[in-house]
Amino acid sequence: MATSDFALFMGQLFRKPHQVVALAPSSKGLCAEMAAELDPAKGPVIELGAGTGNITRAILDAGIAPEDCHSIEMNPDFCDRLRANFPGLNVYQMSAGDCGDLPVENVQAVVSGLPLLSMPTQLQRDIMTGFASKVQPGGDYVQFTYGPKPPVTSVVRDELNLTWRKSGKIWWNMPPARVYRFRQQG
Ligand SMILES: C[S@@+](CC[C@H](N)C(=O)[O-])C[C@H]1O[C@@H](n2cnc3c(N)ncnc32)[C@H](O)[C@@H]1O
Repeated sequence: MATSDFALFMGQLFRKPHQVVALAPSSKGLCAEMAAELDPAKGPVIELGAGTGNITRAILDAGIAPEDCHSIEMNPDFCDRLRANFPGLNVYQMSAGDCGDLPVENVQAVVSGLPLLSMPTQLQRDIMTGFASKVQPGGDYVQFTYGPKPPVTSVVRDELNLTWRKSGKIWWNMPPARVYRFRQQG
């Protein structure tokens, strides 16, 4: 019998805690906030750190066609699950640091479930530079975080001239989280 998405997530968290870096998959409320500003008329979406697909599901529920959603995940077991759960979704088993190489342009947003704050500055820089190269003018990098600070380090924010907005606290998540939307100015 196939394991549930939750059991798969918890098993991988146990085996690879430094990659998964979460107590549980994101809640429905958090996923809905991550996808809240997506518009099927505005073009494709890149998703980073898709895991077992909770945020992916919210992206598709927002009306984005699976063919217009490009999901990066480095864990091969999660990639197999994403392919099984979401026919037509573009799944790439690779590091999010290489998102600038994806075969898609002019995306409306990059939606990230990555543990960005725990990543080294150079990897954050690669991810955010990839975002800047793929997004259409006015498009956002959407990232949740559990902590009190913006989840992109100030060095990278300054280098790429990023401003941000943040959501209210989403209490129905383990642990409670906020969603940040970063945008490149100029
Ligand atoms: C906190 S979990 C989020 C999973 C799911 N999006 C959710 O919100 O429930 C982080 C995910 O990012 C993936 N990940 C971590 N580092 C990565 C990297 N450098 N490139 C791609 N995926 C990565 C992990 O394998 C894991 O699936």
